[in-house]
Amino acid sequence: MGKTIRLDRFLAEAGGFTRSQAKEAARKGRIAVNGVPERRPERQILPETDLVTADGKPLSYARCEYYMLNKPAGTVSATEDGRYPTVVSLIESRRKDLFPAGRLDLDTEGLLLITNDGELAHQLLSPRSHVDKTYFARVRGPLPKDAETRFLSGMQLEDGTQVMPARLERLKEEESSCQQVYLTIQEGKFHQVKRMFEALGCPVLYLKRMSMGPLQLDPALAPGEYRPLTEEEVTMLKNCRKRKTKP
Ligand code: URA
Repeated sequence: MGKTIRLDRFLAEAGGFTRSQAKEAARKGRIAVNGVPERRPERQILPETDLVTADGKPLSYARCEYYMLNKPAGTVSATEDGRYPTVVSLIESRRKDLFPAGRLDLDTEGLLLITNDGELAHQLLSPRSHVDKTYFARVRGPLPKDAETRFLSGMQLEDGTQVMPARLERLKEEESSCQQVYLTIQEGKFHQVKRMFEALGCPVLYLKRMSMGPLQLDPALAPGEYRPLTEEEVTMLKNCRKRKTKP
């Protein structure tokens, strides 16, 4: 059996009612559950199977929401923070249970999945999943000639942490010996990309996540903008995690 929720919460999430509006509508007999008027806002319902109507109109409930956010610098990958705006505060949704699936540093931009699908987030972030994440970076160069092989062979960071093999692609070299690159890593260790370049003596000057598994950052999204994932993108993400986590 699915998870139950209170009728007034359902009305808030599926119909945009405030708690007091939900109470009032129920009291006036405007709300029905499976065809029977329901006057108790505290009544537990099954959001995926019970048919709830308001003034005779069915309210539909998407159990999970999925958003692709182009995270701007200066926002925290958290649901609450005392100092900085959170990534969740950028998303306009009635849902109160959204959270970022993963973390990007305060100064990092780019692709962040915001969802309330705990199962998918867990599978994507589990250390066993090894979902590829590709970052665009500008690093202070010059990069050592053997940087590609050092990354590919799974390097040791300055504190002794061993990381998995990663793929480096050099892009443009800027005049001030600043190198543009793509780096694809399979893990999500704390400050991993920055620490990997640090280990080569090349500090990261700018970092932006471009993709996570099959999900690519939509180039139409400016920093701070977001859009819901398409059904196809959600399916791809779910399938990628299944393939990757098979023993
Ligand atoms: N690696 C980092 O160093 N920072 C990020 O925000 C993401 C990956």
